[in-house]
Amino acid sequence: MASTTTTDSKPHAVCIPYPLQGHVKPMLKLAQLLHSLGFYITFVNTDFIHDRLLKAASITCFADFRFESFPDGLPPCSDDSSQDGYLLSEACHSNFLDPLRSLVARLGSRHGDISCPPVTCIIADGMMPFTITIAEQIGVPGMLLWPTSVCAFMALKYHHLLKEKELVPVPEGQLDSIVEWIPGLKDVRVRDLPLVHAPNGLSPMREAAQAFKASGIIFNSFNTLEQDLLDAISSMYPSVYAIGPLQMLLNSTSSGGEHPESVIGSSSIWKEEAQCLQWLHSKEPNSVVYISFGSRVTMTQQQLLEFAWGICNSNYPFLWVIRPDLVKGRSARLPPELLETIEGRGFIVSWCPQEQVLDHPSVRVFITHCGWNSTVESISAGMPMICWPCHCDQPINCRYSCRKWGIGMEMGNGIERDAVEKLVREVMERGEKLKQRAVEWKKLAEEATSGNSGSSSMNLKKLVEALLG
Ligand code: UDX
Repeated sequence: MASTTTTDSKPHAVCIPYPLQGHVKPMLKLAQLLHSLGFYITFVNTDFIHDRLLKAASITCFADFRFESFPDGLPPCSDDSSQDGYLLSEACHSNFLDPLRSLVARLGSRHGDISCPPVTCIIADGMMPFTITIAEQIGVPGMLLWPTSVCAFMALKYHHLLKEKELVPVPEGQLDSIVEWIPGLKDVRVRDLPLVHAPNGLSPMREAAQAFKASGIIFNSFNTLEQDLLDAISSMYPSVYAIGPLQMLLNSTSSGGEHPESVIGSSSIWKEEAQCLQWLHSKEPNSVVYISFGSRVTMTQQQLLEFAWGICNSNYPFLWVIRPDLVKGRSARLPPELLETIEGRGFIVSWCPQEQVLDHPSVRVFITHCGWNSTVESISAGMPMICWPCHCDQPINCRYSCRKWGIGMEMGNGIERDAVEKLVREVMERGEKLKQRAVEWKKLAEEATSGNSGSSSMNLKKLVEALLG
């Protein structure tokens, strides 16, 4: 797509992420990708997310890449804390459709007061399948960007079979039985399935059940990584587009254009403490442990202490992201004697530029909760993982990372400092095989996103053709 097209004649994609950090970030990457290919973009957040992005200075508007927002109907939240997941899910299903429908109606239509090219497609988060009706009403393609791995999507899609097989609740002794009734899944235990249920009946399983109503489903994954799952879905639903890793594809696609896509923003809703990169520059190559549990995981103060002492006692330098709301119900606090012990060896931030940290030569291993964005970023950086999955899609991402892709080692559920220390030493001192596999997967990700022949590059071409209708 020529980037010299005048704004008025550009195809116009409306991109609507679910209002959580782990959903906003991949959607912004997809929007930047389409923008680099000549699309006009309207990026739509809730007011809460929009205000946090502005406060963290994580976004920049351009004439043909604009941000809009709408009220989520929830009570105001204190700075730096996160909104309640269940309340947000309920608000999404009760309050979002009408404001989104009227916002889209204002964009570029004859009666619209927002001057921009007419909307030619809508791409929303997989958690918001109701947006498909808005696209149908204005007669444009309505696609979903699914926020998890393909394996997690399939597990969510077939979750209803758990009841038929009397596995809800899971009987004692069945947790480790292998699931053989979900297409494409191999060597997955019952305990690895996303068994999340929200009390109000809303759960990602319901959204997965509706996903096939979309004009297409987009994944931040790539063919060689999840081939069995992609084959299983494509046999039922052909409009699947695996175009990940999104950042790698963005790097290889955007020619810099009028605004190199990197200046549009990081989409972090917390201020990134980039000074940690300076600290990393002062460390030996392959010497640092990086720890981060994403934007939603919380833990008890005791778990925090067990992690902290275990990492401290491993005697390796570490960079640890401790969000303001990491510890349930209180602000995370490390004891003074521990802070003294780690002086100069441990660097603690509340939020960091994670992709730059993972790409830094001094980082050797990533202790992660296996959120899908972190998993893809770790693969993209050729970084081995120590996995501590907590909920929803994280256990199955951990299972695949450890058993199928061979790039992770799982830390048991019960966090105990000696076990943490032992596992960190294990990977730091004898983790060559993990590192080698991680570097192999990085190469496969680079192949998928390189030039015009990579699978993700070709899938992107098909996606753009489908979006242009
Ligand atoms: C949520 C769900 O928890 C996860 O299971 C699902 O796969 C996606 O949505 P989250 O828990 O936030 O995601 O984890 P993750 O998917 O890893 O996304 C976190 C994002 O925040 C990553 O893109 C990571 O690069 C970024 N991050 C994290 C930072 O930019 N800085 C940090 O300090 C920590």
